[in-house]
Amino acid sequence: MEGKTVIITGGNAGIGKETAIGLAKKGANVTITGRNETKVKAALEDIKEKSGSQNVDYLICDQSSLAEVRKLAETINAKYDKIDVLVNNAGLYTSDRELSKDGIELMFAVNHLSHFLLTDLVLDKIKSAKGRIVSVASVAHKQTRDFDTGDINMDKDFSGWKGYSRSKWCNIVFTKELAKRLEGTGVTANCLHPGGVSTEIAQKEANWYTKLGWWLGRQFYFISAAEGAKTSIYLASSDEVKDVSGEYFYKCEKVYSNRPSQDPGMWKKVWEVSENLVNI
Ligand SMILES: NC(=O)c1ccc[n+]([C@@H]2O[C@H](COP(=O)([O-])OP(=O)(O)OC[C@H]3O[C@@H](n4cnc5c(N)ncnc54)[C@H](OP(=O)(O)O)[C@@H]3O)[C@@H](O)[C@H]2O)c1
Repeated sequence: MEGKTVIITGGNAGIGKETAIGLAKKGANVTITGRNETKVKAALEDIKEKSGSQNVDYLICDQSSLAEVRKLAETINAKYDKIDVLVNNAGLYTSDRELSKDGIELMFAVNHLSHFLLTDLVLDKIKSAKGRIVSVASVAHKQTRDFDTGDINMDKDFSGWKGYSRSKWCNIVFTKELAKRLEGTGVTANCLHPGGVSTEIAQKEANWYTKLGWWLGRQFYFISAAEGAKTSIYLASSDEVKDVSGEYFYKCEKVYSNRPSQDPGMWKKVWEVSENLVNI
């Protein structure tokens, strides 16, 4: 990874931060993005210390705003000649239905749509490097079997886990359609489930019983963030997967995502909805 340019969204905490440490250790020039400058700067120092690398940088972007995502892409395009790896990692969980700055259901907007837009806007730089796109999905996608285009904001049918599941299902469906569109370009797109990982994702905007359940998971069951970052690091850097594209991984192995997520009709549907919403 020596000298390779890596961008990791949501790199100031949890799995993203450990992915940054792991790839910086391997010699990559890593840029993390995050929404809170104080937190991001503190994480940057930690990443430098733990990786022993000074080649770590940051950019600020609140991914709940498509305008901010566009600005982030502009900065990235101006700053880098090429991107070897884009890790679409930022994500959040909310128990209540919330809307993004653009009026879109928040988990769909941040976890999927912002990455859909960012990837599109920096794709030429990834193509220049014949690079890799790695998206952090989740086994939570399994609850989702379709995308209701008549209820994009989940006005009719929302729960935290339904919204989260849909956003992670979209990460997978997006990866599969993207890989198809990128055939012959040398760019690969893969996604993954990191495991049940001890991070704060469901302790920020979750209700009390979700927070309690998550806290118990962290005490007794979940793996560490460093362990959870292993598949992201593998997909970003291993020669074993340099020609693999359109797949879903867990523990550095190819696994099956649920059946509806393998349906090209679904890929097309989610792609078209996303295109319309981000206006590209
Ligand atoms: N933990 C698990 O068990 C698990 C399982 C399956 C998949 N995942 C996925 O793994 C990824 C990383 O999650 P994590 O568990 O490491 O959680 P985390 O520690 O909460 O990290 C999430 C990162 O995303 C950032 N983020 C959230 N909302 C954002 C926004 N509006 N704009 C910009 N950045 C934003 C967070 O920033 P702040 O620090 O400012 O909040 C943080 O840097 C997510 O995509 C998640 O869905 C996690």
